[in-house]
Parts: sequence; structure tokens; C-alpha cells
Amino acid sequence: MQHRPFGRTGWQVNPIGFGAWAIGADWGAVSDQDAEAALNAALDKGVNFIDTADVYGMGRSEKLIARVLKSRGGRQDIVVATKAGRKLNPQVAEAYTVEAITGFVEQSLKNLEVDALDVLQLHCPPTPVYSNAALFDGLEKLVQAGKLKHYGVSVQDVGEAVKAMDYPIASIQIIFNMLRQKPIDTLFDLAKRKNVAIIARVPLASGLLTGKMKPDTKFGQDDHRNYNIHGQAFDVGETFSGVPYDVGLAAVEKLRPLVSGNATLAATALRWILMHDAVTVAIPGAKNVAQAESNAAAGDLPALSAEQMAAVRQVYDADIRPLVHHRW
Ligand SMILES: NC(=O)c1ccc[n+]([C@@H]2O[C@H](COP(=O)([O-])OP(=O)(O)OC[C@H]3O[C@@H](n4cnc5c(N)ncnc54)[C@H](OP(=O)(O)O)[C@@H]3O)[C@@H](O)[C@H]2O)c1
Repeated sequence: MQHRPFGRTGWQVNPIGFGAWAIGADWGAVSDQDAEAALNAALDKGVNFIDTADVYGMGRSEKLIARVLKSRGGRQDIVVATKAGRKLNPQVAEAYTVEAITGFVEQSLKNLEVDALDVLQLHCPPTPVYSNAALFDGLEKLVQAGKLKHYGVSVQDVGEAVKAMDYPIASIQIIFNMLRQKPIDTLFDLAKRKNVAIIARVPLASGLLTGKMKPDTKFGQDDHRNYNIHGQAFDVGETFSGVPYDVGLAAVEKLRPLVSGNATLAATALRWILMHDAVTVAIPGAKNVAQAESNAAAGDLPALSAEQMAAVRQVYDADIRPLVHHRW
């Protein structure tokens, strides 16, 4: 699939990227060997955008990315977007100071072994942070100081995304998938007009949209699909897209017949995201080579038909919208 422009940055990225949370932590054990192999497989298939954060395994994900890129002879045209802010405890708006974020940037520079971060995203900060113009000024100064090439935000909801566009951000990361469609109605046109890149996260609804999960599927103690199922650790919208597990499974059974030919539901779910031209890059997580390769190939699926698109919308409107649309 054709690369897409990453907002105003001048970069062109493969619209299927790589989400590096699962190779850091919180998704059950993934060995260094599997993690590196998964990332290498994605890069071998032409993926050139990686999303990570300082808290994914407390530096593990960033260091692993640095190691893999070094082993491949350097950065070439690969964009690495990281995030900062979630190390702050308590998570209160007042804690989001320029000094604190600068400290996190310095650590990420070390972990990623670079002089400047490609993109630094504020990592789902409390809503009042989006009204803190001084913080965004501070990010601008970090660009001028050569520590950041660009900065953006990873938001919890559409309202925060719209507010963040008051500042000269390069990108917005937001949950967008077949079970989370609000950004279509209220965000995408504005982001296109303002030339802000959209990074679609949780594209497989934490794996639900692969169609492999069953009512009795068990998740380990160290997997957020177990310990955050009711939002005990962080926003419940990050786990299964905030859809109750049984409702999600039932919706998947309605989506499954929409898959055409030899395609998988996972690849169809990713291709559905790319049907929206406001989306710059979708960032599926992958824990092994097979997942990384099949996700990377999803961009090559033919476009979904108007009938398929309408049927997905119908499932969303009937079963999912009443539960999520007003929340995020
Ligand atoms: N606040 C934030 O900024 C934030 C929050 C969440 C995510 N993110 C970013 O978004 C990325 C992606 O979201 P996500 O990781 O939450 O969820 P996701 O991409 O919706 O789901 C990823 C999980 O689905 C399973 N999977 C992936 N590809 C598969 C395939 N082809 N076949 C079968 N199973 C497959 C894997 O887990 P299993 O094999 O264990 O099922 C994988 O870990 C993250 O890695 C992270 O970079 C950011």
C-alpha cells in the first residue's frame, strides 16, 4: 500500500505500523528473542513507523527498539514515536511540568540511543493538561533545543484531540477500530484540514478483532486483559476498546461473515481502518513473527466494498455505539 504523509513533518509512512507495548510488558510474557523477531519481521515487511512509550516495561520496549534498529545498521527512514507522562505519580495535571517532561525526554533519548526523538507524545494526560499552554510552549522549546523533531498527543477521547489541535502538534494518537468509530464523526475532517497525523491505536481491540477469542479464553495475571478488565489499573477504554467482553465476542460473530476470500478478520479489521484517509498509520501490537507478518500484509488487501463498510457500521450502531460513543 502507498505510504501516507505524516502530517506536516514531510515523512512518508507505511500505513501499517508496529505498536511496541506488548513487546515491553503488560500482555503476558514475551521473550527478548520473540520481541526482537516480531519487530524485525515487521520491518522486513516494510513497516517504518514504531510506537512505544517510556513506561512500556519501564524502558524495555524503547531499549529493545534501539537494539533492533542498531542490528539493522541504523535508523534509515524508520520513525519512532515514544511517549512520556505516565511515570508521574499521582497522575494529576499539576505534575505535568516542563521540567518533569524534559527529564523523561532525556531518559528516552538514552533508551533509544538517539540525539533527538522523532515524535514525543504526551501519554494520555489528565484533561486539564490540554489547557496548559505553557507545557506546549515547553515542548516547542525542546524542538528548538534539538531534543525533539516533533511532538504530539496520545489522547483518551475525541474532545481532548480537538482541544490539542489548538497547539502546533504533529500528531494525535487515538483509539480507532471497528468497535470505536466516534473519531469518524467528530475528528477526522478537522485533523485533515489542520494537516495533523492520526495514529490509530488498539486497532484490533486488544486482539478481540482477530476473532480468535472465546468466552473461556484465559489471560495471565500480568496481562491487562485480566487485571484491567474493569479499568482497575488505567482507563478501561484501553482494554478491549472499553467494550464488555461478551458484547465484543457477539459483535465479532456478526463481523466474521463480512470477511471476503482468504482474508482474516484481523487483516480485514486493519484494512477497514485504512479505508479512512484521515488515518495516517494504524499500529497493531504483535508478540511474534506470524502476527507481525500478517498485520504488515493487511495493507495489501483490496479495499472493502461499500456494502462491507455499511455492514460494519450497522454492527457498531446496533451493538456497540450505545455503550461507547458517549464515553470516548
Ligand atoms: N495510551 C496509549 O497511548 C496507548 C494505549 C494502548 C495502546 N497503545 C499503542 O497501540 C498499540 C496497539 O494497541 P494494543 O497493543 O493495545 O492492541 P491491538 O493492536 O488492538 O492488539 C494487539 C494484540 O492482539 C494480538 N494480535 C495482534 N496481531 C494478531 C494477529 N495477526 N493474529 C492474532 N492475534 C494478534 C496480540 O496479543 P495476543 O497474541 O496475546 O492475543 C497483540 O498483542 C500498542 O502496542 C501501543 O503502541 C497506546
